[in-house]
Amino acid sequence: MVNELKNIENISIKNFQEDLLSWFKAEQRDLPWRKDQDPYKVWVSEIMLQQTRVDTVIPYFNRFIEWFPTIEDLATANEEKVLKAWEGLGYYSRVRNLHSAVKEVNAKYDGKVPDTPKEISNLKGVGPYTAGAILSIAYGIPEPAVDGNVMRVLSRILSIWEDIAKPSTRKVFENAVRQIISHDDPSAFNQALMELGALICTPTSPSCLLCPVRDHCQGFHEGVETELPVKTKKNSQRSVELAAIIVKDETGSILIHKRPENGLLANLWEFPNVELHEPFVIERAQIAGLFRESFDMNIKIEKNIGQIEHVFSHLVWNIRVYIGKIDSDFSQNSEWKFITLDEIEEHAFPVSFHKMLKLYKESI
Ligand code: ADE
Repeated sequence: MVNELKNIENISIKNFQEDLLSWFKAEQRDLPWRKDQDPYKVWVSEIMLQQTRVDTVIPYFNRFIEWFPTIEDLATANEEKVLKAWEGLGYYSRVRNLHSAVKEVNAKYDGKVPDTPKEISNLKGVGPYTAGAILSIAYGIPEPAVDGNVMRVLSRILSIWEDIAKPSTRKVFENAVRQIISHDDPSAFNQALMELGALICTPTSPSCLLCPVRDHCQGFHEGVETELPVKTKKNSQRSVELAAIIVKDETGSILIHKRPENGLLANLWEFPNVELHEPFVIERAQIAGLFRESFDMNIKIEKNIGQIEHVFSHLVWNIRVYIGKIDSDFSQNSEWKFITLDEIEEHAFPVSFHKMLKLYKESI
């Protein structure tokens, strides 16, 4: 910590703020969540922007706000529609947490997002980054909002060599932000750090020659900007082999299954599938046996139509996709149903489902 304080003394905080803020005011991107400072919109945008690129988020954000313009609209919306609005963004627990936190804000705070660190941090899914982003951007409160991008930017400016992969390191950066944040405009200050990370101080080849705060940057002066931030590698992803089956009834409807209410992709719909274990080269009859064991389902596998891969942050799914027939009756079970291709619009599915559906459409 002593080390960071020394580096902060080396930059003139006032000049740094002025250079950063005047650049931000001139160069900031015109993003839909910057049109006003509605805390609900800031909240939605920040949750979407976690692990997802700005370009991808923009259409999702616009549609989400169109479907659920206010806290009350989201609080009273049904979960299926909320999941549908998120379909394709991934990390579905983020939207489930957002939905339940918004219900709490509607009931407990009369629909007004709280403006104290304590209350806001108690909301489901609102971690220190999101709390700081809402408090500073929407309410103008000088709280740090430190994510991976801000850590990258500040590790360079202040020459901080702590490992940003370690959860405890975030506090070092929050401490630094508390010392340099503009109290006149905390909203622009935090957004300017994010913007600098997105436009100039990028991960692999920062554009130092265009940087508005180059004169204040320790990393640049020491010629170490590309060595920072220090980030140790995470454990590698686990691979899982799966077999999925696409079953059509006489009318052309397809069979879908609702995933359990907890865990990965909770409550999303999918094609029925089973996990395969080594040795992976197994017969169709064996796969049919696995479906029988898992779901009490009598299927006949007719043909393999290909394989898809789906990558999560911690996991890779390799899914073999089959077409088949079924003679079990699931009509009494709410986790199973046959739907028409049009009804796909009314259900939320993981991206892997759409990849399989594409294979299926190409195969018929
Ligand atoms: N990344 C995270 N939050 C952001 C924001 N508010 N604007 C642009 N990029 C961001």
